[in-house]
Amino acid sequence: MAETNVLPLPEPAPEERPVLVVDLGGQYSQLIARRVRECRVYSELVRHDAPLQALRARHPRALILSGGPASVYAEGAPSVDPAIYELGVPVLGICYGMQLMAQELGGRVEPTGVSEFGRTEIEAEQGELFAGLPPGQVCWMSHRDSVTAPPDGSRVVAGSPSTPIAAFEDPERRLYGVQFHPEVLHTTHGTEILKNFLYRVADAPPVWTAAAVIEEETARARGQVGNARVLCALSGGVDSAVAALLVHKAVGDQLTCVFVDHGLLRKDEAVHVVETFGRHFHLPLVHVDARERFLGRLAGISDPEEKRKIVGEEFIRVFEEEAERLGTTRYLVQGTLYSDVIESGGTEGVAEVIKSHHNVGGLPEHMDLELVEPLRMLFKDEVRRVGEELGLPDEMVWRHPFPGPGLAIRIIGDVTDERLEILREADSILLEEVRRAGLYRELWQCFAVLPAIRSVGVQGDSRTYAYPIVIRAVTSEDAMTADWARLPYDLLETVSSRIINEIPGVNRVALDLSSKPPATIEWE
Ligand code: XMP
Repeated sequence: MAETNVLPLPEPAPEERPVLVVDLGGQYSQLIARRVRECRVYSELVRHDAPLQALRARHPRALILSGGPASVYAEGAPSVDPAIYELGVPVLGICYGMQLMAQELGGRVEPTGVSEFGRTEIEAEQGELFAGLPPGQVCWMSHRDSVTAPPDGSRVVAGSPSTPIAAFEDPERRLYGVQFHPEVLHTTHGTEILKNFLYRVADAPPVWTAAAVIEEETARARGQVGNARVLCALSGGVDSAVAALLVHKAVGDQLTCVFVDHGLLRKDEAVHVVETFGRHFHLPLVHVDARERFLGRLAGISDPEEKRKIVGEEFIRVFEEEAERLGTTRYLVQGTLYSDVIESGGTEGVAEVIKSHHNVGGLPEHMDLELVEPLRMLFKDEVRRVGEELGLPDEMVWRHPFPGPGLAIRIIGDVTDERLEILREADSILLEEVRRAGLYRELWQCFAVLPAIRSVGVQGDSRTYAYPIVIRAVTSEDAMTADWARLPYDLLETVSSRIINEIPGVNRVALDLSSKPPATIEWE
């Protein structure tokens, strides 16, 4: 009878029961966490030497042991506390992770002399990992050692001609291993295998959605900030935009956004920011027109690093002045992402990480503001999804990265009004045509550069001596490396003739065919 009064326990928030990816040094560790999240299950990366107690305290739904470059039997090879197999949660080992499980749980790992790299065909049996999947599958391998005996009590459920033990499972102890990489898209059923592990084995519900993130992050920001006042520097980029919208949703008009127009933005960008955030979203927005100030300080400066320094310093000064005018503020919103958190080496207590290179050249350090970082557990693609869910226009959600010092580092040499105007027009024509051709989202970045040279041309009956415009368009995953984009000739033709015909002061268009490395994406 008493049972009728028992209410079902509410499902814990996704972050309260994460799937922890134990990083054993593999190049795909971050990707595993991303893929798990794409299955709508919250996942975080943890160090392999994280104390057992810390792992247990997170109440994980499951553990995934990542790949890694070492041999499990080599001295100093990364390992995990074997007690994790007794935590009572399912464990999936991938590649090195699988080998580690085999070695520690009574199996065997050996250098068989047969390495597999790349596309491999396996034969899989029905079981838990491969439930509902065809027996013949293509997957992505990258290993030298192989598991030659599976852990005690487990069953081999997949193999290839050169790797007879490509997967094992022990449903009783809920231990699983795959030699291949389900997180890599070349593994045709990789996502389904992960889903089988997450949904069937680990019983992890797919509840990590943009809507859930919004709910949790607004609650968290509300809890952190209380009744205090919050400041946010809006740059027009997607990170600061989404961070500002989230915090605004949480604390309403306790938030003030400061948008500093340093005069180095693209055509009409300042208007867009003010329209979108001020008029459309009704964010309390202070629009500081600091164009003259920045251009004044940049006059006569041609050294790229000096330009960066000046823009960064001046930005801080303007921001501080505004903050002072607005009165006592305790919090500052930052668009720090999970990838910044991981890169800075901390996945615990990372609130102190401040992006200095990104956004607008760093923010004041001595202002003694506590940071509010609503995106610090999100990957970039998740930020975009949250932005979409919050109603941010597509144009802002998918905006290419734009450097803090803006057009100042795309104008070689002197930054003057006249040269800024030329570059803005050229850049606007280029982007308009790239968008029209439906290629904007395919590119990592696409922009125009104004070099500090002139060349001879002829227009009408007269000789010209004018600037060239360089077109830079790159594809990239993360800006660490980049390749020049193969833009269609027709598009290049339209862009070139429009730029030359429509912009006085330009008589040539050139295309940058350099990859990074050895070039960089920006010209300065
Ligand atoms: P590079 O030119 O080094 O650029 O290949 C890599 C990425 O960083 C951006 N970038 C900057 N972003 N302040 C920024 O906020 C800067 O000074 C800066 N310099 C380069 C660049 O646009 C690319 O996305």
